[in-house]
Amino acid sequence: MRKFFPVQDLARDERFTQATNEERMADPRGTNIASAIRKARSTNRLTPSRPDATDAARSLMHGIMVGEIQALEGAGRTCFDFVTGEEAPFALKLDMARQCWDEARHVEISVKLSEWMGTELGQFVENTVLFAAACSQDPVLRLAGVNRALEGLAIDVFTTMKEFGELAGDPYLAFCEDWMLADEVTHVKMGSVWLRKITENDPERRKKALEFQSVVDKIFSYGGLRSESDESPILLARRFRELAGFSDGELTEIADVSLAALNERREAVEKTLASSPA
Ligand SMILES: [Fe+2]
Ligand SMILES: [Fe+2]
Repeated sequence: MRKFFPVQDLARDERFTQATNEERMADPRGTNIASAIRKARSTNRLTPSRPDATDAARSLMHGIMVGEIQALEGAGRTCFDFVTGEEAPFALKLDMARQCWDEARHVEISVKLSEWMGTELGQFVENTVLFAAACSQDPVLRLAGVNRALEGLAIDVFTTMKEFGELAGDPYLAFCEDWMLADEVTHVKMGSVWLRKITENDPERRKKALEFQSVVDKIFSYGGLRSESDESPILLARRFRELAGFSDGELTEIADVSLAALNERREAVEKTLASSPA
């Protein structure tokens, strides 16, 4: 079987449409100023009272579902791509195998939740950035980029979705998100533990892994998506991240980067509003 599978070759049937992060994040203001303003004005914490709550929650749920598929594919690749005991310890592969088991369950749960919310599979575009981060040649970078950065974001997303389900009076959504959240804390913790263990005597490799993690984190801080402010759709879930092995310093850095991204968005929105006809 082929090793190191590139992101372009992910197996998907005709229902799915894929886009890279750059394509998704492309600034729409040049082509459709009205929709950009509408979007900017409605972007705050995802709660049922938001006018676009239904579509936003369905889109986020679909994003979670395709993220679960890619997390399964990524952890599976890490079990297979590296030589056991030389490039990756057996115990790390066991953790990745356990993660595959969890992610496969999350895929099933997320497909059912998407259907429950009235969404068809493939209705929204699939962002392939998670699997792209799982294509690194170094297993430690995969753990930093996927388990710590992206599944760290999953902790934030699931916490917000769980609250959304509670506020909306949807016990299915709240319950499922809570269970998946518990698993994600374990996955992020695996990333934290293995990153520290493998790079214990290799500060250069640790530095590279942490830099990769911070690059992936920054991609998702774009536009203030996640921060500690109510203006961000997703809340930074400090407590669960602490449980998953993030240090106070790391949490402060993520909070600062997120806030800076939010401020940038605020300025861009103000500029757009000032330069557009009323
Ligand atoms: Fe998951
Ligand atoms: Fe996960």
